[in-house]
Amino acid sequence: MAQIISKTTINARLSYAGRVSRLRPSPIAKRVGGFGGISGLLEYLKSEQITHVIDATHPFASQMSKNAIEACSMAKIPLAALTRPAWQEKKGDKWINVPNLEAAAEHLKQPKKNVLLAIGRQNLALFYTQPQHYYILRLVDPPDQPLRFPDHSINISRGPFTIKNDTALFKNHKIDLVVAKNSGGSGAYSKIEVARNLGVSVVMIDRPKIPSRKEIFQTDSVLNWVNQV
Ligand SMILES: NC(=O)c1ccc[n+]([C@@H]2O[C@H](COP(=O)([O-])OP(=O)(O)OC[C@H]3O[C@@H](n4cnc5c(N)ncnc54)[C@H](OP(=O)(O)O)[C@@H]3O)[C@@H](O)[C@H]2O)c1
Repeated sequence: MAQIISKTTINARLSYAGRVSRLRPSPIAKRVGGFGGISGLLEYLKSEQITHVIDATHPFASQMSKNAIEACSMAKIPLAALTRPAWQEKKGDKWINVPNLEAAAEHLKQPKKNVLLAIGRQNLALFYTQPQHYYILRLVDPPDQPLRFPDHSINISRGPFTIKNDTALFKNHKIDLVVAKNSGGSGAYSKIEVARNLGVSVVMIDRPKIPSRKEIFQTDSVLNWVNQV
């Protein structure tokens, strides 16, 4: 997205939540960190004379999306979300659909499994209630403090992931259960395909609900939207 915008005359700025330690280099200006809720974002939109907002946050970063909808409505600024359709269950998938992270942790109340816990690092503590499992954690950055899982290993990688590498990961760790967020897109999909190929069940966490908004699924289409609205 940033590469495409940098080739236009659009004066754009990237806003990162700052969840990862190493940001990818970008050809356009960036800022990092929260705004201080709706009022802080509103203030920023006004002071920077922003005319369009593109919400390209992760589908599970719902607080930011809700704040953006509210602040843009108050400031009368058009907003579009660049997002990706949720993954759909296919023939051969063995999904256990759960509404949220808490329900996923609850589902793990069962005898020991080798669990690929691919949910990022923010909510890992929810799974401390199920210490009987061997957890394989896929994280972008090493954890800030030691994790309190009695039996676990950490796989540091930011993707995109491949079927070849994920097949090796599943086989090396004898993974027999996956916990995943329904993020959509291709970058994190290989674990779902590998689970299907190997007959492994996936506890699939539904996306949080976000109020209705304009949604765009193609990066190129965002430019058309900016130029037309
Ligand atoms: N954020 C990410 O990059 C990211 C990536 C992958 C997965 N997720 C997943 O999404 C879930 C929630 O994540 P989250 O806490 O990051 O999001 P969140 O709950 O939607 O947002 C929490 C706060 O972070 C700040 N924030 C979030 N996105 C921002 C942005 N683009 N620019 C500036 N500030 C931003 C806002 O602070 P103020 O209210 O102070 O403005 C917001 O209220 C987690 O399950 C996480 O694993 C997030």
